[in-house]
Amino acid sequence: MAASSMALKLACGVLMCMVAYASLAHAASFTCKQMLDTVAPCQPYLENAAPLTDTCCSRVKFLNNLATNGTTADRQKACKCVKGAVANSTDSYLGLAQGLPGKCGVTAPYPIGRTVNCTSVQ
Ligand SMILES: *[C@@H]1O[C@H](CO)[C@@H](O)[C@H](O)[C@H]1NC(C)=O
Ligand SMILES: *[C@@H]1O[C@H](CO)[C@@H](O)[C@H](O)[C@H]1NC(C)=O
Ligand SMILES: *[C@@H]1O[C@H](CO)[C@@H](O)[C@H](O)[C@H]1NC(C)=O
Repeated sequence: MAASSMALKLACGVLMCMVAYASLAHAASFTCKQMLDTVAPCQPYLENAAPLTDTCCSRVKFLNNLATNGTTADRQKACKCVKGAVANSTDSYLGLAQGLPGKCGVTAPYPIGRTVNCTSVQ
């Protein structure tokens, strides 16, 4: 009984998560806040305070697919969001952020940097 209710909670947790992801994926467009919330598990890594986790990478891959498969406007928006996030960051944070897609085995469909021209992203 205890075990099955635990399994149920776990299944619901996963389901909630999938519903949240699905609504993000199907949203006509996503907000910068949604993007940053999605990669929140990556913060400790970017702050050089913890090792890279699978959770972080799965979020990175998810957003990467979204941007890659999205419209040019989606990619420009994602680019601006990331640019804002690294605008006042340390060089260490920026370096880790730039290396993150590669570490997770994907290629960001836009450059990551403080002086990137996001309007030229296709
Ligand atoms: C985006 O496209 C890739 C490769 O075509 C695919 O594997 C991935 O599932 C797609 N992602 C989304 C969110 O549709
Ligand atoms: C970065 O810091 C400067 C100066 O403190 C501030 O004017 C600017 O709004 C900040 N930019 C972001 C994206 O937080
Ligand atoms: C950014 O790129 C766009 C499109 O290529 C261009 O029109 C614009 O002048 C560029 N802005 C800067 C600041 O270089």
